Amino acid sequence: MKKLIVAAALSVLAMGAQAADEAAGKAKYASCAGCHGPNGKSASPAFPTLAGKDAAYITAALNDYRSGKKKNPMMSPQAKGLTDADIANLSAFLAAQK
Ligand code: HEC
Repeated sequence: MKKLIVAAALSVLAMGAQAADEAAGKAKYASCAGCHGPNGKSASPAFPTLAGKDAAYITAALNDYRSGKKKNPMMSPQAKGLTDADIANLSAFLAAQK
């Protein structure tokens, strides 16, 4: 049990070391805004609104498009070039939008 708590504490620390950077996410989002709208608020039903969605949900979706598990002719190419850090930063930025 004690070991488990130490392991959990260490993984929290490890996550903190590469904490998501909202400002970097905002900068990266510039290439997404053409479809998903300013700050993730889409003006068109063709493109899902991303503002305020759960960060874990956005991360999972981006990972799925990047890996090919989810495919969409418009979205898949966008995810291909993203790094893990890009995805974490984009997720943090979008989740923080109202
Ligand atoms: C060329 C237009 C286009 C661009 C640019 C684009 N997307 Fe998308 N995105 C889409 C479309 C269309 C969908 C819906 C795809 C589907 O239904 O599978 C989507 C879906 C998503 C989803 C899943 C939403 C959900 O609720 O399932 C996320 C997250 C996402 N995009 C993030 C991004 C990010 C981050 C960027 C910039 C790196 C980006 N998109 C750039 C068109 C685009």
